[in-house]
Amino acid sequence: MDENTLRAFVIGWPISHSLSPHLHQFWLRQYGINGNYEKIAVPPGELSRFLDDMEKNNFVGGNVTIPHKENVFSSLKYSDEISIRLQATNTLSLESGMLLGANTDGYGFSANLDQHSKNWRKAKTAMVLGAGGAAKAIVLALIDAGFSKIYIANRTVQRAKNLADLMGAECESLPFKEAEKLLSDIQLLVNTTSLGMKGQSPLEIDISQLPKSAIVTDIVYNPLETTLLKNAKRLQLEVVDGIGMLLHQAVPGFEKWFGIRPKVTSELRTHMLNILRAG
Ligand code: ATR
Repeated sequence: MDENTLRAFVIGWPISHSLSPHLHQFWLRQYGINGNYEKIAVPPGELSRFLDDMEKNNFVGGNVTIPHKENVFSSLKYSDEISIRLQATNTLSLESGMLLGANTDGYGFSANLDQHSKNWRKAKTAMVLGAGGAAKAIVLALIDAGFSKIYIANRTVQRAKNLADLMGAECESLPFKEAEKLLSDIQLLVNTTSLGMKGQSPLEIDISQLPKSAIVTDIVYNPLETTLLKNAKRLQLEVVDGIGMLLHQAVPGFEKWFGIRPKVTSELRTHMLNILRAG
């Protein structure tokens, strides 16, 4: 690093698991940019000081992850429309001394489907499993993509109801266990829960009632082929895995900080999968 190095970060607590540095360092090398992307552990009590010192520390911006997304949003004066609707920030940029917040999670979800599915934008009905932060961004992306019916199924049904009420008339909540019964009308099935992730319980759902034309996607990417996706493939359904959401959500931030809109290529995907495998 020298005094011209453009510095970006990802902050979270804990942060050691974050794969984002590998992703941004890959692009920095590929495009020959004098930049750096650092993983910084920021405890909740130090968040506001970190944000206040960003300019002094020569940061151009960075990513925000658990548990800071909502608190960063609340502390900002300037936020993009999506993060206002989600009340959560995952991308920060300093532009002419102003700290701007954005949320690119929903963009990452849609861009991944755009890259790997020809048909998803024709779909009109979706079943979203889960009602946490990831589900919120995805439901909003589905509304913006023109879905007319979005079921939100969650173990804690009150959480699904709160999300459905917040998001609008297209949304309907139901208990997780009742999702199976509705699958014959579903064109896009999305798992946003952590079920199926390495070390977690499996996602148990019988998807045999999905129509033959249905698309199935999972935000879990470790393992890349989750049991849900394996079962969907066995039924010859269209399948989109979750690593692309991670890759695409990083694009707008990189472009803001370093001035080049980076490409999500098969080389990048292979690089990140190798890191996951080694991890
Ligand atoms: P994120 O913000 O990353 O989406 P989260 O807010 O912790 O994470 O949400 C995790 C989701 O996985 C929730 O929908 C959660 O269901 P609850 O709201 O009932 O907690 C779901 N989830 C996690 N473990 C689960 C399990 N064993 N069975 C069913 N759902 C589970």
